[in-house]
Amino acid sequence: MADELKRNRHDDARAVLARNDRGGYTVPTDRLYPFQWNWDSAFVAMGFATFDVDRAYRELERLIEGQWDDGMIPHIVFHAPSDTYFPGPDVWGTRHRIPTSGITQPPVFGMALRFVHEAAVAAGQQDSIERTRPLFEAALRSHRWWLKARDPDRLGLVAILHPWESGSDNSPAWDEALARVPTATKTEIRRKDTGHVDASMRPRDVDYQRFIHLVDIYRDCGWNPQSQWSVSPFKVADVQMTGILARATADLIPLASALGAQAEAAELSEMHHFLTEGLKRRWRDPLRRFVSLDLVSGQDIEAPTQAGFIPLVAVSLDANQRSAVAAEIERWCDGMVVGLPSTAPFSPAFEPKRYWRGPVWAVINWLIVDGLRVNAINELASSLERGTVRAIEQAGFCEYFDPTTGEGLGGNTFSWTAAAYLVMSRRVVDG
Ligand code: DGY
Repeated sequence: MADELKRNRHDDARAVLARNDRGGYTVPTDRLYPFQWNWDSAFVAMGFATFDVDRAYRELERLIEGQWDDGMIPHIVFHAPSDTYFPGPDVWGTRHRIPTSGITQPPVFGMALRFVHEAAVAAGQQDSIERTRPLFEAALRSHRWWLKARDPDRLGLVAILHPWESGSDNSPAWDEALARVPTATKTEIRRKDTGHVDASMRPRDVDYQRFIHLVDIYRDCGWNPQSQWSVSPFKVADVQMTGILARATADLIPLASALGAQAEAAELSEMHHFLTEGLKRRWRDPLRRFVSLDLVSGQDIEAPTQAGFIPLVAVSLDANQRSAVAAEIERWCDGMVVGLPSTAPFSPAFEPKRYWRGPVWAVINWLIVDGLRVNAINELASSLERGTVRAIEQAGFCEYFDPTTGEGLGGNTFSWTAAAYLVMSRRVVDG
C-alpha cells in the first residue's frame, strides 16, 4: 500500500514537471514565474534524471542558451514572452542573443550536471560523454566568472550584488545591507507577483523598490561586472552562494576526469581548496554556524538564516563543529511541525508565512540533508529528509511551507518541489 501511494505521488510529481514544461525547459510554476530560472532548473534537471535522462540534459542545455560571453549564467532566461511577471526583459535591458536578466543565481548547475551524468552512465546512455562535455565547459566558464567577477579581492568567498542572486530574496540576512539601498527608482514598479500570491507571503513593496533601484544602477553600468562592483551599495560575500559554488566545483572534478580534462581537473581542485578555505574562516563557534560578510560595512551578518548551514555541502567540519551544528539545527526545528525554518523561530525577524523570512523550502532541506551526510550527521539528515517528504505528501508540491503548521504556501504545483520529492522520497524508508 505504502509503495503504491509513493508510486502515485511520483506520478503526480512527474505531472507537475510535465505541466510546467515549455519545450525543453521548465518554468518554476505557471504565471508567477513564467520563464526559465537558473537554480530552479538545476534542481529540476536532477528530478528529471530520476526517470528521463534525455530530458534532464535538455533542461541544462536550454539554460546555457542564456549564458553570457563572459561566462555568467543569468538568473532568468526569457525564452518566450509573458506578461504575468515583473520585471521583464525591457526592465533588464541586457544585450545577449536571447533576452535574459542581468544577474545570476546559485550555481547548482555543476551539482546537477554530475547527478545527470551519473544517471546517464547508470542507464547505459551511449552519448553521455558527448552530452556532458559542452555542459561541463559551460559550468567551468561560469565558475571562472564567479571568481573573477565576484571575488576580485581573493577572499575565497563570492559576493552577491543583488538579493535576487541569493535566491533568498527577502531574507533577514540582507536587512541591514539592503537598508543602505535607496528606494528611488527610474523604473516604474508594476508588481505582478501579488496578483498571483497573497501579499502577506511575498516581499514588501519597500523591498521591491530597493530591488529595482539596484537593477536600475546596474543597467546604467551596461551590466559591466567591474563597474557594477565599484558602484554597488549592496555587496555581500554570501556563505550560501560560496558553499554551493564550492560543492559544485567538487562535483565537476570527477566529470573533468571522465572527460580526460586533466588540466581542468587540477584547476577545479585548486578552486575548491581556495573556496573551502574561505568558508572555513566564516565559521563562528558561539553561533554554531557560518556567517556571511557585508563587504560594504565590513561586518559579519549574524541574522540566523538557513544560509549558515549551507556550507556543510562543501566543508568537512571537525567533531566539535559537527555536534554544535547538529544541536543548532535541532534547536531551530524544536516545536516546529516541519523543519528547517529559513529563519530561526527565536529571531524577531521570523515570519512563518513570508517567503524567505521563515518558511521551509524543500530544496534548501535537500542541500542541508546532503551537507549533513557529507559530515556524517546521518540520523539528523534522515529525519530532516523524512519530514520534508511528509510535508510535501501532506500539503502538495507547494513553493514553501509554514514551519509552524505545515501549511503549503506561495505558488502551487511548483517544479523544484516536485523534483525534490522525486529525489528525496527515493531515499526515505517508510515507517
Ligand atoms: C522573484 O521575482 O520573486 C524572483 O525570486 C526573482 O528571481
